[in-house]
Amino acid sequence: MFEMDRGQTMTTLFTNLLSFQTWRGSIPKHQTVGFVPTMGALHAGHVSLIEQAKAECDVVVVSIYVNALQFNSDADFARYPRTAEHDLEVCTEAYVDAVFAPIKSELFPEDVVELLTPSRNALGYEGADRPGHFGGVATVVDRLFKLVQPSVAYFGLKDYQQVAVIKDMASQLHPDIVISPCQTMREDDGLAMSSRNRFLTPSGRKSAALLHAALKNAVTLWNGGNCQSQELVQSVTDYISQDSAIEVQYISVVRDGTMDQIQIVSENDVIVAAIVVDGVRLIDNMSFTNA
Ligand code: PAF
Repeated sequence: MFEMDRGQTMTTLFTNLLSFQTWRGSIPKHQTVGFVPTMGALHAGHVSLIEQAKAECDVVVVSIYVNALQFNSDADFARYPRTAEHDLEVCTEAYVDAVFAPIKSELFPEDVVELLTPSRNALGYEGADRPGHFGGVATVVDRLFKLVQPSVAYFGLKDYQQVAVIKDMASQLHPDIVISPCQTMREDDGLAMSSRNRFLTPSGRKSAALLHAALKNAVTLWNGGNCQSQELVQSVTDYISQDSAIEVQYISVVRDGTMDQIQIVSENDVIVAAIVVDGVRLIDNMSFTNA
């Protein structure tokens, strides 16, 4: 256990499961617990989740755990940025009450981890490009929910499909936990904040920002009266194909809160996309809302 003092607020780092459980058990029942699960490499997107949790809950817990179960290759897992000291500073600056950074053998003490089967919202899109990914996400989030016992859990909408899968898992296994999807935080040029952005070259970084502009343009076209999803998807493809550095993985329009593909676009439906730039896979999405 390690404590960082910042004025009146203390951020306590728990790496030991028993210490965390003892601390969790000491929180009075009437207090609400806000939970921000992360894999570390914290950026302003995470801070906005923490701020929302701080505004809405009595106590805020951030977990940091790089979950091997959700990576498709050992190389990807090894390459994931680990920035423990920086992460703890970010949490202290944001007045987080507790950082829970468990070790694998305590989070998953069993020899063979049985993966949860995620809902049908895990099929296709990220689920197709990253087989097993959502089983790994659902399994670790379920495990963390059991330990943290949050009142509300906060997830960034950049990972739109992840939010849909976690909502389904929580409604089945943790019906008392409120899942709060939070707006995507963006860089000045619109690029969705992500721990992967650091792997982009300066020119790749410029290319990557085109995706946001293309999605915005599709929403503008919809506001102008075009409701055909095929045409809106084509507009995004045309927009980003100006740049040969971008490889499109998928672009599609889905019904709000699901991954169900649709033909005619209504308000709140969502255009989702994945591209690869500089070998870095990036995802983003945008909701069709009236201008
Ligand atoms: O979004 C993430 O950082 C991870 O998928 C999560 C939810 C922390 C599970 O490992």
